Amino acid sequence: MLNITIIGSGNVAQHLISAFLKTKEINILQVFARNKNNISQQIDSNKIITDYKDLQTADLFIIAVSDNAINIVSSQIPFDNQLVVHTSGGMAIDVLDDKHRKGVFYPLQSFTKNKAVDFKTIPICLETQNDLDYYLLEKIAQILTNKTYNINSLQRKSLHVSAVFVNNFVNHLYQIGNEICQESQVDFEILKPLILETAHKIMAINPKNAQTGPATRNDTQVIEQHLDFLKTENQKNIYKILTQSIQQNG
Ligand SMILES: NC(=O)c1ccc[n+]([C@@H]2O[C@H](COP(=O)([O-])OP(=O)(O)OC[C@H]3O[C@@H](n4cnc5c(N)ncnc54)[C@H](OP(=O)(O)O)[C@@H]3O)[C@@H](O)[C@H]2O)c1
Repeated sequence: MLNITIIGSGNVAQHLISAFLKTKEINILQVFARNKNNISQQIDSNKIITDYKDLQTADLFIIAVSDNAINIVSSQIPFDNQLVVHTSGGMAIDVLDDKHRKGVFYPLQSFTKNKAVDFKTIPICLETQNDLDYYLLEKIAQILTNKTYNINSLQRKSLHVSAVFVNNFVNHLYQIGNEICQESQVDFEILKPLILETAHKIMAINPKNAQTGPATRNDTQVIEQHLDFLKTENQKNIYKILTQSIQQNG
C-alpha cells in the first residue's frame, strides 16, 4: 500500500482524492486544507489537517494548489528528501523547494468541482529528477489511467499553451457564438452538432486539413458582410485576427 498526502482542496485535489479513494493500492494518508469544510464530505475528518506541523512522511506528496502558491507551500513541508510533486501544466519542476526530490504529476484535463471525470481517459504527464522516482510516480499514475507520458518542463509548457488555445480560447469562441445567437433570438442548440463534428473530425484528420469556411475559401464579400454585421469592436477584432491567421496558414 502506498501512502499519498495531498495538499490543497480545490478542483484538482478533490478529483484526485475521489480517484485515489476508489483504488486498493493507494492509501490517502493526509490531506492538507486551509479550509476543512472544502473536503469534509470526501474524507475522514481525522485525515484532514490544517497545520503543516501535523504532516507525516509519505511515499508521495501531491501539491495541488494555485500556481503562485506552489513554491511557498512546498517549502512548508517540514521534511527533507521526500518525493514532492505539483500538478501544474504551467510551472517548471524547479519551482518546488530544493530540499525535496522534485516531480510533476500533471493531469491534462479541465477539472471542475462536482463535474465527474473518468480518470482512465485522462493523460497524466510525469517528470522527476531521477529514474527511481519516475518509476514510482508512473506506477501511481498507472493506477489511475492508461495514459502516462514522460514530459519535461519545456514540453509541458508547450502542451499547456496549446491547451489554452484548444480549450480556453475555443470555449470563449463558443461564448461569443452563443451571444451572437441570443441577439437574433436563435437557439445556440442548433450549432451543437457542428461543434461536435468539428471536434470529432480532428480525431481523424490534421486540423489544418479540416479547416473550411469563408476565410479558407477567401470569400471576401461574405467576410465583409460578417464584419459589418458584428456589433462590438471586440468581436470584429477577433474575427479579423482569426481570418488573417487562417489565410496566412492556408
Ligand atoms: N483545474 C484544472 O482544470 C487543472 C487541470 C490541470 C492542472 N491544474 C493545476 O492544479 C493546481 C490546482 O488547480 P485547481 O484548479 O485545483 O485550483 P483551485 O480549485 O483554485 O484550488 C486552489 C487550491 O489552492 C489552495 N491555496 C491557494 N493558495 C494557497 C496557499 N498560499 N497555501 C495553501 N493553499 C493554498 C486553495 O485553498 P483555499 O481553498 O483555502 O483557497 C485551494 O485549495 C494548479 O497548479 C493548476 O495549474 C488545474
